[in-house]
Amino acid sequence: MSGGNRASMWEGREAEWRNPSSSAPMSDIVEQRLSRRDLLKGLAASTALGGLGTPIEAEAAGPSSLRFTEIPHSLDGRHHVARGYTARPLVRWGDPIVKGAPAFDPKNLTASGQEKQFGYNNDFLAYMPLPRGSNNSEHGLLCVNHEYTNVNLMFPGVRTRGDTARMTREQVDIDLAAHGLSVVEVKKTNGRWDWVRDSKYNRRYTTNGMAYRITGPAAGDKRMRTAADSSGTLALGTLNNCAGGTTPWGTVLSGEEGFNSNFSGDASKTSEAANHRRYDVRASRGDSWGRNYDRFNVEKEPNEPNRFGWVVEYDPYDPRSRPAKRTALGRIKHEGATTFVAPDGRVAVYTGDDERFEYLYRFVTAGRYNPRDRQANMDLLDEGVLSAARFDADGTMTWLPLIFGQGPLTAANGFNSQADVLIETRRAADLVGATPMDRTEDLEPNPVTGRVYAVLTYNERRGAADAPNARERANAANPRPKNPGGHIIEMIPPGGTGARADHTAEKYRWDFFIVAGDPRKPDEGTRYHSGTSAEGWFARPDNIAFDRRGRIWISTDGMDNYAELADGLFAADTSGPGRALSRHFFATPRGAECTGPCFTPDCKTLFVAVQHPAEETGSTFDTPSTRWPDFVDGVPPRPSVVVITRNDGGEIGS
Ligand code: FEO
Ligand code: CA
Ligand code: CA
Ligand code: CA
Repeated sequence: MSGGNRASMWEGREAEWRNPSSSAPMSDIVEQRLSRRDLLKGLAASTALGGLGTPIEAEAAGPSSLRFTEIPHSLDGRHHVARGYTARPLVRWGDPIVKGAPAFDPKNLTASGQEKQFGYNNDFLAYMPLPRGSNNSEHGLLCVNHEYTNVNLMFPGVRTRGDTARMTREQVDIDLAAHGLSVVEVKKTNGRWDWVRDSKYNRRYTTNGMAYRITGPAAGDKRMRTAADSSGTLALGTLNNCAGGTTPWGTVLSGEEGFNSNFSGDASKTSEAANHRRYDVRASRGDSWGRNYDRFNVEKEPNEPNRFGWVVEYDPYDPRSRPAKRTALGRIKHEGATTFVAPDGRVAVYTGDDERFEYLYRFVTAGRYNPRDRQANMDLLDEGVLSAARFDADGTMTWLPLIFGQGPLTAANGFNSQADVLIETRRAADLVGATPMDRTEDLEPNPVTGRVYAVLTYNERRGAADAPNARERANAANPRPKNPGGHIIEMIPPGGTGARADHTAEKYRWDFFIVAGDPRKPDEGTRYHSGTSAEGWFARPDNIAFDRRGRIWISTDGMDNYAELADGLFAADTSGPGRALSRHFFATPRGAECTGPCFTPDCKTLFVAVQHPAEETGSTFDTPSTRWPDFVDGVPPRPSVVVITRNDGGEIGS
């Protein structure tokens, strides 16, 4: 494939790197694959790292283009950022963003207040410049996903996240209103960022708010209909919005992820029993929602779960517009929905399914992006081809289309329409032979190189290459049994770099970018650049973002469970001699995960979302393990967006 030209250039430069000095005990297929990779790219096995035994200076940038002093690994109640930078909480759970909202008062929360206040557990962030279409890096709309809630940190007397039986109806309604999305106008004035009070753009989308349009092939299908919506075209609210993306026409995409755990009732008694089993729809958060709302009880409304698990598209610039659930992109536990325009103008959308042994996907629009007519693009995501990925040990990958009537996707296998294929995307992907992955979190193209990065967070249930269940066996792209630290895969479309990369091609090449985890644990078979410092390694990667130089910024979720260290943000070059040399930039307070890294176009501002601070065993509203970011007695921890700038006003990391 022609995409190989660029790769060989990189390989030439990397050939001077150190080869691994030893192999970790892994299965043959893994060794074959990693050896080939090491041969080609000189990625160092962990036991060859400079950081081991004789840690290299954390300050030394070595061959990396990233110019900042690394911070040490930590675990305490505060956040930390590299010297010379300032990281400041910008907007917090409960801030009164919509006109008329009450001030945050943690002892007197109300549902009507929360509907106008910033939501809980901020995750994905998009910065959309004002005016639309500009590159304004000092004034824009911050578009925020609110993934889930920690009710034990929101309400006094609730002991754990699952302790929902104690919740009052009002608390349940606050909980529903704390989910969803926020749009907040943000502006830099005299060098300081703030959010804009009473902005006409500021708004909330919640789980019990407005009805969203259901569009694309599953719209109106009988499996999408409920008592409240006999048309099957209007879904109330959005749920568990995790990662996301933006489109070239200035809309925001938001992935509905863990919707399955919000329903109560016995799904096995319903007409959708097999479907709900495949999506693990179960009453894991107690019955607080189902007790108060029939639609969350699957015995009363068996089709309601079919109306979640989609990619939502909304227009941040038009507060009156109605978001759409784009069913053509499939129904999974969506992570990310990131776009790239192919040379012929069709648009690829990448999205992953964050569940053990599930798949990753690409959607390619039937129509072409028209940069001169915004309106003509607004329904591009309703028609096109969704495919699931198969990774082969020879370093190639194939996109397998999920089209009703083709291959096994026929009535013989229970599919009677494209709506069936999309509602049961997972089962369709099983049948075409996609590769079961180690929990795909973010999945995003590098806008500079055109290469796509798939973040596999970890999978403690991954079996060995001879495990009894074929889906669970180690495979070429998920080679480590129990995969404790996660890894990042690089997917390489043919056609050339940047805008020439053909994101509609059937076949790509792929390789490992970093095999994460603690390099001091040789059994884990980690692979980092040989110059990685003792502070630069990470585990359980989750969200990624790219700066304007094409460098990758990787946030983590689960370093605390992995190694009793704080989650944070790590950056690395993706090309040149510093490729894959990760460096430690930011650390969250304890109990939190780092999500949503997002740059302004000039890369002088970086936003990150600190999610679930103090989410630790025994931590409650009254006794949280940190009161970040307010540190005021009686005020619980508050998930917040943090704004990071360089003290001298320069570009982040340069
Ligand atoms: Fe919501 Fe997969 O992280
Ligand atoms: Ca995530
Ligand atoms: Ca991302
Ligand atoms: Ca995660």
